[in-house]
Amino acid sequence: MKKVAIKGTGSCAPERVVPNSYFEKIIDTSDEWITTRTGIKERRIVEKGQALSDLAIPASESALKAAGISPEELDLIVIGTSTADMLSPSAGCIIQHRLGAKNAVAFDINAACPGFIYGLAVAQKFMQDGSYSKALVVGGEIVSNRLDYKDRSTCILFGDGAGAVILGHSNGKDDGEILATDIQSDGDLWQLIHVPAGGSRRPPSHEALQEGLQYLKMQGNDVFKHAIRTMVGSANKIMAQQGITSDEIDWFIPHQANIRIMEVVAERLGIPSEKVIVTVHKYGNTSAASIPVAFDEAVRSGQIRKGDLVLVNSFGAGLTWGAALFRY
Ligand code: ACO
Repeated sequence: MKKVAIKGTGSCAPERVVPNSYFEKIIDTSDEWITTRTGIKERRIVEKGQALSDLAIPASESALKAAGISPEELDLIVIGTSTADMLSPSAGCIIQHRLGAKNAVAFDINAACPGFIYGLAVAQKFMQDGSYSKALVVGGEIVSNRLDYKDRSTCILFGDGAGAVILGHSNGKDDGEILATDIQSDGDLWQLIHVPAGGSRRPPSHEALQEGLQYLKMQGNDVFKHAIRTMVGSANKIMAQQGITSDEIDWFIPHQANIRIMEVVAERLGIPSEKVIVTVHKYGNTSAASIPVAFDEAVRSGQIRKGDLVLVNSFGAGLTWGAALFRY
């Protein structure tokens, strides 16, 4: 089986910064509550009319440049998102078109926040037998227009963004390698986070809009508990499979949903806080974008270097969860 490595990274955040003070003006909340309960200070939100591909394209172009390859060289495009530009076609096909990646096959994976990890896992498997050789994997989301700005328990949590990586076959020891991926789901828990209308069960209608069924509904407390259980389980599983202990991990990038979840998971895995990459204070929860954006920023700032052992770990609507372990 061929080894698969990360060859380049990129990311894009919208320009508009929305601080916690904005929410103090529209709902009964405070900067102090949001900061202490979530770790979020501000988030980035797209302008009206901007769609997922408007963030995914700059992120992808940046990753292509870092990898030193052209869009025509891509043969696989996998987009982790649940907020594509439109219901059909896939974000993958729109992104393929806008990049001019004529020689690729493109598709989406709708797995909420772990969408990027799902994408890595699927692309890795497609590449291991040599069927594909150069892949673009994107995690991106425009969550802001799925939010009910009257629901204080959800609207303060999320932001928009996109992150991307280019995968290629490993050239040997000095090149990185994706060592292991784990993806899991439990559909019995689908009601914990869901958007009721807009799909085939409740198509868009005046009635659905009036009831606010186009907005994300979440049972935050229950999600919190399952998040910790599932993330710790998945991360421990792949470390055990690889015979790696947590003290060998150089960098841990948990899903940037809530600083309290991130701290508890890191503590239970035995990973010290100085090895945890944190961006939740400036971007909030950007769903599938959270890990690739944090990863790209850590690479570009020189924090994560070639050869470092990185563990990424996420959970989200579905419920879905997963982890990936790679040497960059
Ligand atoms: N400002 C002030 N008070 C608030 C706010 C707010 N923004 N939101 C909720 N409260 C109130 C509640 O109404 C409640 O008041 P009450 O005690 O009078 O009823 C009180 O604060 C405590 O509420 P809890 O829900 O118990 O607060 P908690 O500490 O659990 O924090 C939070 C809530 C931040 C949502 C937390 O549960 C959480 O982060 N859960 C995980 C959510 C998550 O990460 N989802 C990611 C997946 S999403 C995806 O896949 C797309």
